[in-house]
Order: sequence, then C-alpha cells, then structure tokens
Amino acid sequence: MRPVALVTGACRGIGAAIAVELAARGFDLALADRDTGNGDAVLAKVQAHGARGRLFAFDLAEIEAHEATLDAIDAWGGKPACLVNNAGIGSPRRGDLLDVAPEAFDVVLDVNLRGTFFLTQAVARRMLRLPASARATIVTISSVSAELASVERGEYCLSKAGLGMLTRLFALRLAAHGIGVFEVRPGIIRTPMTEGVAARYDERIAQGLVPAGRWGQPEDVARAVAALATQDLAFATGSVVHVDGALSLPRL
Ligand code: NAI
Repeated sequence: MRPVALVTGACRGIGAAIAVELAARGFDLALADRDTGNGDAVLAKVQAHGARGRLFAFDLAEIEAHEATLDAIDAWGGKPACLVNNAGIGSPRRGDLLDVAPEAFDVVLDVNLRGTFFLTQAVARRMLRLPASARATIVTISSVSAELASVERGEYCLSKAGLGMLTRLFALRLAAHGIGVFEVRPGIIRTPMTEGVAARYDERIAQGLVPAGRWGQPEDVARAVAALATQDLAFATGSVVHVDGALSLPRL
C-alpha cells in the first residue's frame, strides 16, 4: 500500500511539481485545487510514476467544505499520511501599504492563513487515527515573505509570517504523536504566480538580488518537500527549510 499525500494547489506551479516528485518517491496523490483546468496533465505525470492520483475540486477558503473533501479522499485512497499546504494567492494588487483595503486583506488572509490553519487542523485530527507505524508529515509552503518585508504587498507578508507560527504550533501539538511538521520558505520561483512580474525579477536577479544568481524552479521546492515527507528526518520537526538561493541571508 502506498501512503496518500494530499497537495493543495496541485494543478500548476510549485504544487504540480511537488505532486509529481512525491509520486516518484512512492506516494499516491490527492490533487486538490480550486481550478482543476490543468489537472489532467499533472495527473498523467503522477501516474507515469506508477502512482494512483485523483483530482479534487476544492477551495481552501471554504472551510465548511473541508471535511467533505477529506471524506472523499479517505473513501478514494485512505487518510493522507502527508499534507502539503501549498495553495496560496498573492496580493490582489501591489501598492502602497497605506492604501491596503480591508477586502484585499481578508481575501489573502482567508486563503493563505485561515484556510491553511483549518485544513491543517482537520487533517491532523485524521492523522491521529492512522496506524502508529505510519509516520505522518505536514509541510507548509510559506515564503521568504514570512521574514522579508515587501511594503507593496503587506497582506501577503502577514499571511506568510502567520504560517511560520502555524508550523511551530502544530509541531508542538503533534510531536508526541510522531507527526513531523515543517515549513518550506521558497524565494523567487518561476511559476504562473510570478509571470506578471517576471521581467522585473529578471532584471533584479541580473543585478545580484539572489546570491545564487538564478530563478528558483518549482522542482527546487518539490525536492525539498519530498526530503521532508520521507522518513529520513524522523526526529526533526518544526524546522524551516529555506529554498531561496540565499536571498534571505543578511548581507553586508
Ligand atoms: P500559482 O499561482 O502558480 O499556483 C497556485 C495554485 O493554487 C493554483 O493551481 C491555484 O488554482 C491554487 N489555489 C489558489 N487559491 C486556492 C484556493 N483558495 N483553494 C484551492 N486552490 C487554490 O502559485 P505558485 O507560484 O505555484 O505558488 C504556490 C505556493 O508557493 C503559494 O502558497 C505561494 O504563495 C508560494 N510561494 C511562491 C513563490 C513564487 O515565487 N512563485 C515564492 C514563495 C512562496
């Protein structure tokens, strides 16, 4: 029996790469996304690794519907032994911090923080019912924005900083049950999310913004998640893994 991994926002970008990498490492995949348009292509790549996969239409912000989605995943393949909290949205509009509207604040916090908190809570309850031999893991994709302030998208930074505390809270609550809880902080990754600002980042990377001198690729993040999701780090929990080419390291 292959363990089931649930990846949110799995139909494109970083989430799609994570799903394919976890399939290659022996998981079956529940691919949950609000927009399943590109899902069949991801599903085919997952299945090419001999994994079972299924698409689940799912809105992270609709917390009342989380249990129904988890019931459907249980009925299909069993309780997830791995949850990857990847789905997230950027700020609706980049602009002056002094102009952030409550609606924009709420929409970003509802998805990125509130949705992730309550999904993690619901999945964690189910993980406690897994057999003791099945070491479970929860990996949350936050961002360098958890620590680097971008004043033109303050609500996004706040949501990602909150995910840092979410990781520590669940790591403490679940440690006695052998459930590892981790945070992965990607830097600037080439995905549809960054498409609109790609030219600006091309320029800033060329000027030395990222010490590694390149964009991150979704696969860079996926490999870090896969390392955490396997059994190799059994005594580690609450850890933060930076996948940012040294972008977040203080420099002189
Ligand atoms: P993306 O926009 O390319 O893909 C996000 C996926 O999440 C999409 O498939 C979308 O449909 C889904 N999604 C969005 N809202 C959802 C909701 N309410 N319910 C269910 N699914 C939803 O984004 P990307 O770049 O792949 O980012 C993935 C995660 O990584 C996000 O949490 C993002 O904040 C984070 N991240 C991205 C970075 C980047 O440079 N691309 C850098 C640091 C963090």
